[in-house]
This record gives sequence, structure tokens and C-alpha cells, in this order.
Amino acid sequence: MNSKEQDPLSSSPSSRWWSKNTVAIVTGANKGIGFSLVRRFAELGLTVILTARDSARGLKAVDALMAQGLHVHFFRLDVSDPSSIQSFVSWFKERFGALDILVSSSTHEK
Ligand SMILES: NC(=O)c1ccc[n+]([C@@H]2O[C@H](COP(=O)([O-])OP(=O)(O)OC[C@H]3O[C@@H](n4cnc5c(N)ncnc54)[C@H](OP(=O)(O)O)[C@@H]3O)[C@@H](O)[C@H]2O)c1
Repeated sequence: MNSKEQDPLSSSPSSRWWSKNTVAIVTGANKGIGFSLVRRFAELGLTVILTARDSARGLKAVDALMAQGLHVHFFRLDVSDPSSIQSFVSWFKERFGALDILVSSSTHEK
């Protein structure tokens, strides 16, 4: 298999398991692995919610993606804060309803 065949974007749209209706949430996504995953999901055309515990850092990450022509949604989410989680869940349910992919990439430990 050559590198072109391994690229998911080189597959025919009808054979893809994902679409723009596939919704992914990534926590701790303003940098590191989370940020890279958000970028890749956005490149593939999924609907992506980039979350970060700090709004300024999160929006800076969103801006960096926008500069590359990629669109993602943003919501502040501190996974260690129950009220932040509740706010996020309420917003997400209202806006998107159903979730397909959840990536926990935050370093927070209980
Ligand atoms: N990198 C590796 O080689 C590797 C290997 C195995 C496993 N992992 C695991 O993969 C995950 C990501 O690793 P990484 O290297 O990408 O880490 P990273 O670059 O340090 O990024 C960690 C992210 O977690 C966020 N975060 C920390 N506490 C949070 C909280 N309470 N709520 C929401 N977000 C929070 C950080 O936000 P701030 O920027 O605001 O601090 C940052 O965005 C970690 O769980 C790590 O243990 C990484």
C-alpha cells in the first residue's frame, strides 16, 4: 500500500465511515496531541469541538486552525470542574444533540 492509499482523504467518499455529521469532542485541545487530533478531524471534514480550560488559549488554537482554512467549534471546558462540565454538556446537547467521538486529551488527573 503506498502513502496515497493510506491517506483517508484519498478514499472515495462513499467508502468513508465519517462525514460532516460525525461529531467529535476533544478535551485539552489547545495544544499537544489534542490540538493535532482536532486539526486532523477538521481536515477530514468531521464536525469538531475544540475544548480547553482556558478561553484565551483555546481561542488562540482556534485562530491557528482558521488561518489554515479549517473550521472548528469552541467551548471552554475544565474537566476538573463539575460546573464547567455541566455548562458544556448543556451547550453541547442544545447545539449538537448526539456525540460520535470523545477524545480525552487533557492531562488532568483526579
Ligand atoms: N505526549 C505523549 O507522548 C503521551 C504519551 C502517552 C499518553 N499521553 C497522554 O495524552 C494526553 C495528552 O498529552 P499531550 O502530550 O498532548 O499533553 P500536553 O501537550 O501537556 O497538553 C495537555 C492538555 O491538557 C490540558 N488540561 C490540563 N488540565 C486540564 C483540565 N483540568 N481541563 C481541561 N484541559 C486540561 C492542557 O491545558 P493548558 O494548556 O491550559 O494547561 C493542555 O491543553 C495526556 O493525558 C497524556 O498523559 C501523552
